[in-house]
Amino acid sequence: MKIFVTRKIPEPGLDALKKEFSVEVNPFDRILTKEEIIKGLKGKDGLLCLLTDPIDNDVINAEPHLKMIASYAVGYDNIDIAAATKRGIPVSNTPGVLTETTAELAWALLFSVTRRIVEGDTFTREGNFKGWAPMLMLGQDVSHKTLGVIGTGRIGTTFALKSKGFHMHVLYTDEQTNEQLERELGAKKVTLTTLLKESDFISIHVPLTKQTHHLIDEKELHQMKKTAVLINTARGPIINEKALVRALTEQWIFGAGLDVYEKEPEISEELHRLKNVVLQPHTGSGTIETRTKMALMAAENMMIGLKGGIPPNCVNTEVFQKNPTT
Ligand code: GLV
Ligand code: GLV
Repeated sequence: MKIFVTRKIPEPGLDALKKEFSVEVNPFDRILTKEEIIKGLKGKDGLLCLLTDPIDNDVINAEPHLKMIASYAVGYDNIDIAAATKRGIPVSNTPGVLTETTAELAWALLFSVTRRIVEGDTFTREGNFKGWAPMLMLGQDVSHKTLGVIGTGRIGTTFALKSKGFHMHVLYTDEQTNEQLERELGAKKVTLTTLLKESDFISIHVPLTKQTHHLIDEKELHQMKKTAVLINTARGPIINEKALVRALTEQWIFGAGLDVYEKEPEISEELHRLKNVVLQPHTGSGTIETRTKMALMAAENMMIGLKGGIPPNCVNTEVFQKNPTT
């Protein structure tokens, strides 16, 4: 069987696949266009794709042999799952292995913004450090503050648990009660409005869906404290980027730390100029260890899926449900 891989991923994943299948990898060091993906898929049985690939109805229906899609990401908002399910194609993702890594990046951004790390680094490199000064580049304490976690799935929960050493008061929003957070941190489930009004630091950990698109818009930014810091390591379109630019420019909030953007890889021109925002190039899962684990996980799902088994990280298990009445 044949597989198309839309971008070079860590070797251990590719090696595992090459043992069993004929593997074609995107030869370019760049994101492929939709047309190129369709071309690459010709005659292939499996597609190993990335979060940057638009796997829509056209792509899913382009190749009649296609029988498995393994995505090298936990978020799968870029894939038309309904279209894949309709064709009986299982889709898998890479949950769990990147949970700690992404939670760590959210903390890295939180500290970068509160202690103005990037601004301080630039200031120092540019030769502006003339000695210790009482009022130089003052930031904010993190310890004993209120942490607001929007969405407490795997990553949100892990992010919140890592606050333990900082003795924080934790608020969260989620559809479900998070018993672990309530038990271990005394966290409180609140409405989004309460979380926005009462939190000092707010971190987003929901997937991108129709319901979470622009979850944080002008109104929500206005509800935050003037000293609030907003962190987004989830998906860009959860925040209205234009509204965030206004909030940062007019200082409705203290700052933001972003790993994701509304129209990646485009970033609002204004964000480049603002000092109270830290910009990271979507590297939430970007450690050597984690990217290797993701490659092995995507390869394993592909191998099991192509052999007709249920991929362990299948996100549309409906395709395996037999329904004799239809
Ligand atoms: C990264 O954003 C992922 O979804 O894995
Ligand atoms: C993603 O893996 C999440 O559940 O937070």
